[in-house]
Amino acid sequence: MAKKRVAVLISGRGSNMVALIEAAKTPAFPAEIALVISNRPDAAGLAHARGAGIATAIIDHAAHGKEREAFERAMQAVLEGSRIDLVCLAGFMRLLTPWFVGRWAGRMLNIHPALLPAFKGLDTHERALAAGVKIHGASVHFVVPEMDSGPIIAQGAVPVRADDTPQTLAARVLEVEHRIYPLALGLVAADRVRIAGGRCLIDGAYDSEAALIVPEI
Ligand code: GRF
Repeated sequence: MAKKRVAVLISGRGSNMVALIEAAKTPAFPAEIALVISNRPDAAGLAHARGAGIATAIIDHAAHGKEREAFERAMQAVLEGSRIDLVCLAGFMRLLTPWFVGRWAGRMLNIHPALLPAFKGLDTHERALAAGVKIHGASVHFVVPEMDSGPIIAQGAVPVRADDTPQTLAARVLEVEHRIYPLALGLVAADRVRIAGGRCLIDGAYDSEAALIVPEI
């Protein structure tokens, strides 16, 4: 099977993008990172992508004024021009319209630093600590028009420690993010994920361990 051509959309640091680039270096990985798009010209991740020899594009949302769809049409043109099969949002800080999301239904993934459906939105680590949850983590899901929703592909759990600060918790969640994103992309790119009744089946099973990272406590 030909490798799926993946575009990673970033807005900043790009550490999840790096994790995907590293995973895709494995010959057996079913996807190649063909393109990195940033909506911010100053995104730190761009330099890494260029250094890795990956094509990059800057599509500055600010240059498209308030017209969200004009910005998205520009992105869509670049994605189509690069014959992209799958899109991975990785710290991409723009809300996407139903039009764009619809173009990529079942082909666009996002990573969120919490165990969805808990703690959608921003400041997830602060909110997890304030809520007193014992288990926090990260989720990779298909993108639907509603923010941080959509069928969950993979999750990783992170036990909360008594002395955690938002920063220490974020650091451990980020390590898990860097493991579950390549895991989820690999499953999707290998056509092992099917959506049924709003849930993801992997190799036909709902309870596949292939999409879980659960530490020993
Ligand atoms: C990650 O925590 C990701 O889950 C969230 O934004 C952060 C991006 O980090 N959506 P990076 O740019 O991948 O380092």
